[in-house]
Amino acid sequence: MSDFKKFTQANREAWNEAMPHHQKANAGKWDKAFETPGFSVINEPELSLINSLNIEGQKIAHVCCNNGVELMSLKNLGAGECIGFDISDAAIQEAQERASRFGIACEFVQTDIYDIPEKYHGEFDIVYISIGCLGWMPGIQRFFGKVTSLLNESGELFIYEAHPFSEMLPSDDLDNVDPLKIIEPCAASDQFGSFDLNK
Ligand SMILES: C[S@@+](CC[C@H](N)C(=O)[O-])C[C@H]1O[C@@H](n2cnc3c(N)ncnc32)[C@H](O)[C@@H]1O
Repeated sequence: MSDFKKFTQANREAWNEAMPHHQKANAGKWDKAFETPGFSVINEPELSLINSLNIEGQKIAHVCCNNGVELMSLKNLGAGECIGFDISDAAIQEAQERASRFGIACEFVQTDIYDIPEKYHGEFDIVYISIGCLGWMPGIQRFFGKVTSLLNESGELFIYEAHPFSEMLPSDDLDNVDPLKIIEPCAASDQFGSFDLNK
């Protein structure tokens, strides 16, 4: 196995291990949310960007779709055919089960992004990438080569990403919290205590 493959397979195992914890924390929340017809998890400022793309009827690929709630939201917002790709078996299983339970017509495929089969090449109007994808990729050029191959001639790439570091900062909806103070745990904070970016 190449070093490249070893890297992505290690991520597959890590995400399969992590998913039960995510599911324990969030599954009830997503099930309840999708009981509301037309539910979408996509909020501002991303929503305005999505609206500017005119996704109505568009064929969308979501790479690194995890449990599929964003792709199901795009479908609820009017997208056409929707296909999600993710390396985690557990994430894809959760996505497939929820989409089928709520009758939301999305397809989910378990695959390493680098190995997406050729039958999907040139198929999509939009490739959608959202927060938490790019940082897992061992080769960013090869990744975008694959992403480009999925698009049709007039296809568009949509990226709504964040630097992983920002995950350690307070979320925007917390009041009275210094937005530059690290409050979430990370390996470094265990070692060095908390940081204050104002200092
Ligand atoms: C932070 S999560 C997904 C983020 C998504 N925006 C969300 O909020 O659900 C990152 C996902 O990338 C997937 N992933 C990591 N490396 C991958 C690869 N090489 N191919 C496909 N999926 C990969 C993981 O399995 C995981 O589900």
